[in-house]
Amino acid sequence: MATVECRSIRKVYGALEVMRDFNLQVDNHEFVVFLGPSGCGKSTMLRMIAGLEDISGGDLLIGGQRVNDRDPGDRGIAMVFQNYALYPHMTVRENITFGLERAGIAKAAIDERLAPVVEALGLGVYLSRKPTELSGGQQQRVAIARAMIKTPEVFLFDEPLSNLDAKLRGNLRVEIARLHRDLKTTSIYVTHDQLEAMTLADRIVLMKEGRIEQMGTPEEIYQEPATLFAAGFIGTPNMNFIELDASDGLLQDHSIKLAAPFALKSGPVTVGIRPGAMRLNQTGGALRGQVERNEFHGETRLVTIRTVKHEINVAVPASTRVHEGETIGIDVDSCNLHLFDPKSETRLRQ
Ligand SMILES: Nc1ncnc2c1ncn2[C@@H]1O[C@H](COP(=O)(O)OP(=O)(O)OP(=O)(O)O)[C@@H](O)[C@H]1O
Ligand SMILES: [Mg+2]
Repeated sequence: MATVECRSIRKVYGALEVMRDFNLQVDNHEFVVFLGPSGCGKSTMLRMIAGLEDISGGDLLIGGQRVNDRDPGDRGIAMVFQNYALYPHMTVRENITFGLERAGIAKAAIDERLAPVVEALGLGVYLSRKPTELSGGQQQRVAIARAMIKTPEVFLFDEPLSNLDAKLRGNLRVEIARLHRDLKTTSIYVTHDQLEAMTLADRIVLMKEGRIEQMGTPEEIYQEPATLFAAGFIGTPNMNFIELDASDGLLQDHSIKLAAPFALKSGPVTVGIRPGAMRLNQTGGALRGQVERNEFHGETRLVTIRTVKHEINVAVPASTRVHEGETIGIDVDSCNLHLFDPKSETRLRQ
């Protein structure tokens, strides 16, 4: 098992710079998730680590060795892609063991390695089937098995679950988490699905436009988003943002009180409030407005309230009685506010 280190990595396609000054140290055994919107450079970075894409600048170290110019096959990595690309004419067993056979490993040794992999992924009953005789989720498990049997130093996953339906994604996500708990292989996992990121990652690397926006544990990024982008990207339903003028400890035109030391600050401020950090108030409230939408989500309902200047989403228990069109108040807990400088879009720290 190994560490992965990216030192000032850069990637250009002609005149287009898609990755700038990317610095990251992935520890041995760590599970790191690259999270970010489409086009931010997640796959490009992963493919540079895998050796499938040239590195335009900087150093890539795996296990402390500089590997910029090393072939993919000599980097000790195994990769699982979104399109699992199994060989259709081979059985499941052959698909899994093909790489080892080609490497000249003896049949007995291959069988020994196959057993625990098949066991971990529940593929025992499918070994003699062809890929076309499997569901999408089963095919993806075969692709993961094919990577696992190589016992790599580092696992790289590029959106391995995005072709699957919600239930299968959930099941396979649990299997990947279990796999990592058992094998502890250093892993880098690319996704734009924040639920996958939050549940799998030891550490999330949140990316935007070819650079790192914020790095931290899922809890750190959720509880202390460093920028407006991070605050808006993590958390479902999305955080509400209210642009306000803070003076005298009061957010003007609303009666939201700010706790010290923000109370001393004046001038414009963007306030972020998660939908779950507010309560409805029939008669009073820091903000008041009209109920525009009332969506039933199962355990909760998401109530959209239009105030004079804003549209605010509040998550309340599903049993709450609320009707579209009625006027209602919102109570805000000042401890649960996230404050940002609207110019720099960065968090105002205490
Ligand atoms: N061969 C290429 N030539 C030019 N530009 C490219 C090439 N490959 C990727 N790009 C650009 O690099 C940027 C990063 O692409 P990348 O595939 O890494 O994004 P991503 O974060 O994986 O997105 P997605 O979530 O959609 O898979 C994009 O703007 C893309 O258009
Ligand atoms: Mg991608």
